[in-house]
Amino acid sequence: MSAMIEAKNVNFAYRRGVPVLNDITCTVQDGEAVSLLGHNGSGKTTLSRLFMALDHPRSGQVRVDGVDIANFEPADLADKVGYVFQNPDLQLLGDTVYEEVAYGLENRKIPKAALDTQVREAVEAMGLTPYLEKYPRSLSFGQKRRLGVAAALALQPRTLILDEITNGQDEQEKMDMMRYLSGLQQEKHMTLILITHDMEIARKYTNHALVLHDGSLVYDGKTQDLFDGKRPIGEWGLQQPVLSRLNALFGVRAESPEGLCALLQCKLSPAERSASVNAGIEGGNRT
Ligand SMILES: Nc1ncnc2c1ncn2[C@@H]1O[C@H](COP(=O)(O)OP(=O)(O)OP(=O)(O)O)[C@@H](O)[C@H]1O
Ligand SMILES: [Mg+2]
Repeated sequence: MSAMIEAKNVNFAYRRGVPVLNDITCTVQDGEAVSLLGHNGSGKTTLSRLFMALDHPRSGQVRVDGVDIANFEPADLADKVGYVFQNPDLQLLGDTVYEEVAYGLENRKIPKAALDTQVREAVEAMGLTPYLEKYPRSLSFGQKRRLGVAAALALQPRTLILDEITNGQDEQEKMDMMRYLSGLQQEKHMTLILITHDMEIARKYTNHALVLHDGSLVYDGKTQDLFDGKRPIGEWGLQQPVLSRLNALFGVRAESPEGLCALLQCKLSPAERSASVNAGIEGGNRT
């Protein structure tokens, strides 16, 4: 794997004397799914702004696909890094959902038919086809979030930075959205950076986790290990996902609730197993 985004000894402050990011060094590999975690105000959004050249480090370096982006602006990275803002209102520019999603593509001078296909696919993927002609600002918060994702997806960037996109979605919408994005990551090798307060999403959809705490990088490793119960994640403002907590409790490493049930059944003696079947606990062969 090659590096898609690299931060080297990055320091940043919005105002002189008030450091926001302290000496951050980390790498996001091409094609991986990474979660960027940390308490409110820990610096997640700020760090991601540096990844897409919206801001630049006071010292240190950010490289995207091997190139130092110190003199870049976001438009220079349009095919490399797409971004969905934490606040959806900041990105709304069009008069209709269609225009909103087409907006970024129009600057690319691609044939009209191809543009139309890309727009409709992205809109459909985010479940917004019924709203194609609606005024973006009239959409619900959750729909605006999905519209932001559709607009970013239509540009087909190699990396997508998603800042709290599951806010305002119900469970079904959240799952549909994450499954779709995860599919793009696995099948098309799109790099995903998920900024989230939802530990269940981090656990389920990312292998690599970065944790910021007061502007410092306190964890850079496997997401599964972050939640193994051996790290001070509470001090970092994070909670262990339920499945990870149960795994730690039972000393197993199940990937899903079903897997956990199966593993726990294996741990039972034959007598305990038949007792659990009789008690209706197990989903085994009850004919
Ligand atoms: N435009 C700005 N001007 C000055 N300070 C800012 C600005 N944006 C953020 N900050 C400050 O920088 C720090 C990091 O903020 P940031 O928004 O990056 O955190 P975050 O981890 O994304 O938080 P949240 O989870 O609440 O979105 C905070 O102390 C915040 O108050
Ligand atoms: Mg933020």
